[in-house]
Amino acid sequence: MEVRNETIIDGVNSHFSEIASKYRNLRKTDLEPILHIRNQLDKKSGISIADVGCGDGRYSLEILKSLGDECYLHCIDSNEDMLQYLKEYLKENNVMNFCVRPGSANKMPLENESMDSIVTFNAIHHFDVQRFLEEAFGCLKENGSMFIYTRLRNQNSRNIWGENFPLFAEIENRLFEFDELKHHIQNTDLKIENTTVFGYHRTSSLTNLEEKARNKHYSTFSLYSDDTFEESLEEFKQNIMENFDDLEKIQWQDENILLEISK
Ligand SMILES: C[S@@+](CC[C@H](N)C(=O)[O-])C[C@H]1O[C@@H](n2cnc3c(N)ncnc32)[C@H](O)[C@@H]1O
Repeated sequence: MEVRNETIIDGVNSHFSEIASKYRNLRKTDLEPILHIRNQLDKKSGISIADVGCGDGRYSLEILKSLGDECYLHCIDSNEDMLQYLKEYLKENNVMNFCVRPGSANKMPLENESMDSIVTFNAIHHFDVQRFLEEAFGCLKENGSMFIYTRLRNQNSRNIWGENFPLFAEIENRLFEFDELKHHIQNTDLKIENTTVFGYHRTSSLTNLEEKARNKHYSTFSLYSDDTFEESLEEFKQNIMENFDDLEKIQWQDENILLEISK
């Protein structure tokens, strides 16, 4: 069994409480995986879905908008502040077919064989992956499906932060490579049906990038000491000024993967 460092887990939880009120404005929400998931689930009606590590609900809302009244969404997160913002956000958007379930991915607050599908966005690297997959296996109905959207370790090392922000790729050692995820999934008797890599062309100004890093839009930044963060940020700005001509329009490619899994 994987042993997680409790101090790091507590630190990450306080990080998510600190940024809960602004999280969805700091991160870019990708609609392509939502469309893909909708197409896979389209033929079913009256389905129960769990969004695990749902955060403040930016992907929960997209799932609900895309599947409409045909689904009921169980929003699970271990951080109560995130769930509070999720509740307000979904209600503001006139969505009612959801419930909030505080709890851990490692011990899911769901009945056995109760879910048609389980989705998780940008969160699996925060879980005890083997326990989460075993829990998911138990909570899924026969023939249920699961969708894991994440960035792999190598994808992280090739984005604007991995290539230009000192220590970013090295410090972020919680992310998985595909073979590691595959190994955990196969250990649980779940089956990978399909994998899709999504590439996104991003553009931002240096000012905006600095603001995101200062606001710790990736929890990776909460793993730096204050001094190391400040030194690294200065070096990042130097690297960007050397590597890009137009500091108002810095362009790069982000990449993520969607794993479609069946029970
Ligand atoms: C990077 S955020 C992603 C949130 C959301 N899925 C999104 O993409 O906007 C990760 C979320 O996972 C939650 N989380 C971390 N560890 C967890 C665990 N063991 N069980 C449930 N949620 C967890 C955090 O509280 C946080 O809200």
